[in-house]
Amino acid sequence: MAKKFQILVVDDEESITFLLKTELEELGGYEVDAALQGTEAINLLQSKIYDVALLDIKMPRVSGIDVLKFIHEHSPTTQVIMLTNVVDYKTAIETIKLGAYDFVSKPYDTDQLLATIGRALERRQLVIDKEVMRNELNRITGASGIIGESSALKSVVENARKVAGSETFVLIQGASGTGKELIAHLIHNESPRKDRPFVAVNCASIPDQLLESELFGHEKGSFTSAYSAKQGLVEVADGGTLFLDEVGDISPPTQAKLLRFLETGEFRRVGGTASMRVDVRVVSATNKDLQREVQEGRFREDLLYRLNVVSIQLPLLKDRKEDIPLLVEYFIRKKSKSKIKRIDPEALAMLSRYHWPGNVRELEHVIEGAVALSQGDTIGLQDLWINPALARQTSASAISGTENGSTELLSLEELEKIHIERALKKFSWNRAKTAQALGITTKTLYLKIKRYKLKSDDSIGNN
Ligand SMILES: Nc1ncnc2c1ncn2[C@@H]1O[C@H](COP(=O)(O)OP(=O)(O)OP(=O)(O)O)[C@@H](O)[C@H]1O
Ligand SMILES: [Mg+2]
Repeated sequence: MAKKFQILVVDDEESITFLLKTELEELGGYEVDAALQGTEAINLLQSKIYDVALLDIKMPRVSGIDVLKFIHEHSPTTQVIMLTNVVDYKTAIETIKLGAYDFVSKPYDTDQLLATIGRALERRQLVIDKEVMRNELNRITGASGIIGESSALKSVVENARKVAGSETFVLIQGASGTGKELIAHLIHNESPRKDRPFVAVNCASIPDQLLESELFGHEKGSFTSAYSAKQGLVEVADGGTLFLDEVGDISPPTQAKLLRFLETGEFRRVGGTASMRVDVRVVSATNKDLQREVQEGRFREDLLYRLNVVSIQLPLLKDRKEDIPLLVEYFIRKKSKSKIKRIDPEALAMLSRYHWPGNVRELEHVIEGAVALSQGDTIGLQDLWINPALARQTSASAISGTENGSTELLSLEELEKIHIERALKKFSWNRAKTAQALGITTKTLYLKIKRYKLKSDDSIGNN
């Protein structure tokens, strides 16, 4: 039999605790402990986990509110229902603010009380589910939200952690969707500045004329739409971290102003005369090759050196394929609203073969779509929305062995052999169906089977 829900009843009137215990046990099927004093309740709460506690607000010495505070701190999943004598709404609302689930006035109506307990139990389950999900995610990510066991990713995370504690400027480089922003957050969150702001500026999405005033603020009337003075993001980030995302997209005039600021810590608002000073640590990111941008005259070399005191290069997802199953598991959990689905091995194999031009972001989107689309509790091949042309390329490269970075090509004959073998397997060695799918006659197929000496796995019975 399932374990009964555990309820704690606390009231200084013995007649009430007696009545509650009897009714809740007999009508609700719960297991009930009763306490006549706050101290007794706290003793019980230290030795047992209750699903729901019913607390009288007014009790001598240790009141129901004291017990509520204790529960809030020591047993956060226990749902508390307050019992009030006369409805003193002010106090009742106060207890809700302190974390009580609801309140019921005395004399209570038994049906209403049972209904309230039922709802409190549902809420408790939700709280627990959420907690389990969070712990589960934390277990996989180690709280940083960064998934991956590959040595390529591990060394990136290690370097980010090492540099986090210092004040050094860091430039994070990597293709789109590789996790640059995630690393920037990690650097901030593990730095002594973690309790100060992390301010991200996407330099590519802000029109260049506005970027300067976004960064450094402006004085009233400095340009037509500047109706009032505005603080710049560097001021907002004071004491914290300024994350310059897509830093390779800043125009040369703004690059010059940024350089001056990075060198001196001083800046002027647009239209302002006073020089201001802030203390920010700059982490920047780009998916451009900034060396090349420098060579081609689009990015200032001195600014690059200023930003790039330490550089962190993120690997492409296709170069750390061993992380794909972990990421898939993680995203399935993250995107599931209720029941966690599983993934069919064939679908996982396909995801592991694909070359992921959009990196982790693309994988995240594919899983999000699959979780939403799949019927039942398993994600199959048909639920994966990957650009079909690219997916075909993927299977071709899988056959030719290029997926592991080896560029060694198979001859057309070898390729044909593998392809025919696969098709035969797919149709369980039904030659007519296989020939039709391959667009050749059964006779040609027969000849090719002989030529390549193909045999089915259970060929004893078949051939
Ligand atoms: N190692 C990882 N573990 C878990 N999630 C990841 C990982 N890497 C990236 N992601 C997720 O993938 C998405 C893209 O990551 P992020 O925004 O950090 O990439 P980016 O390099 O800044 O991309 P872009 O250049 O396009 O801005 C985010 O939702 C992020 O949470
Ligand atoms: Mg980004």
